[in-house]
Amino acid sequence: MPGWDGERYAEVATLQHELGRRFAEALTPVAGSGGRAARVVDAGCGDGVVTRMIAALPWVGEVVGFDPSPLMVSTASSSGVPGVVFEAGDVTTFVAEEPFDLAVSLNALHWVRDSGAALTHLRDALRPGGRLVAQFVSEGARPSLEDVAQRVATGPAWASHFAGVDPPHVHRTAEEWRALAGGTGLTVSGAEVSDLAWDFGTAAAFEAWCTVGFTAWTEHLPADAHGAFVREVTAAYAEVAGSDHVFRFQQLRLEAARA
Ligand SMILES: C[S@@+](CC[C@H](N)C(=O)[O-])C[C@H]1O[C@@H](n2cnc3c(N)ncnc32)[C@H](O)[C@@H]1O
Repeated sequence: MPGWDGERYAEVATLQHELGRRFAEALTPVAGSGGRAARVVDAGCGDGVVTRMIAALPWVGEVVGFDPSPLMVSTASSSGVPGVVFEAGDVTTFVAEEPFDLAVSLNALHWVRDSGAALTHLRDALRPGGRLVAQFVSEGARPSLEDVAQRVATGPAWASHFAGVDPPHVHRTAEEWRALAGGTGLTVSGAEVSDLAWDFGTAAAFEAWCTVGFTAWTEHLPADAHGAFVREVTAAYAEVAGSDHVFRFQQLRLEAARA
C-alpha cells in the first residue's frame, strides 16, 4: 500500500508547511545529553519539510524523520541535509537505536488508530527527562473533515467499497489524550486545543488538497471514482464549514516528558 504520495503532498502542502513553521517556532529548546545539541525524532515526517525546519533550530543536532509511506520517505530523502536522516517506520512499532532528547510529531497521530501503542513507542524512544511535543487533530463539537469523509464513505453511494474497512482516523478529546499519555507513564505538561481556519481561496484548490489527503479512502475506490468521492465530501463539508473553500480544524498540542 503506497499511502500518502510525497510529491503530490509537497505540491499542495502550503497549509501543513505553515503549521510546521509555527510548530517549530514554538518549540522550547531541549538540552542534549553530555552537552551535545539535541537529538530529535519526527514521527510521521511526511515530505520532510517540517523535519528540516526543526533541524535548522540552533539547539538541534541530529534529526531522524520516519514515515510508513514509501513515497513520503523518498520525497523527504530527495533533498539531503547534513544531520537529517529519513527512514521508513511506523510510530506503533518504532524502536530507537539510541535514545532521543525530543520526540515531535505534526498532524500524524490522528491517522494512527492505536494511540496507546504510538505513545508507548514515543515514550520508549526518549531518554529519561526527554520531551514529547505532538500536534494533531482532536475531537471537537464540529464534525471534522475526516468525519465527513467517513460519513460519505459509509453512505449509500460508497458503502460497498468500504465493507469491513475501519475508519483511517481517530479523534480524541484533550482529556482522553491526557489520560492515555499519563497511563503510559509520561508526565503531561500541556494539552491545549486551538480552533483554526485556512482559506484555500477557491473550491478547486480545496478539492485538490483533499484529493492528496484522502488516499486512506480513495485507495479503496477505482481510480475513475476518486474525483466523484472527493466532490461529494467537499460538498457535504461546505455545509459544516459554511464555505466551499475554507477548512476549519482543531489542533491539539500535547506536551509531555518521560520521567
Ligand atoms: C498530514 S501528513 C503530516 C506530515 C508532516 N508531519 C507534516 O506536518 O507535513 C500525515 C503523515 O502521517 C503519516 N502516518 C500515517 N500513519 C502513520 C503511522 N502509523 N506512523 C507514523 N506516521 C504515520 C502519513 O504517512 C503522513 O505522512
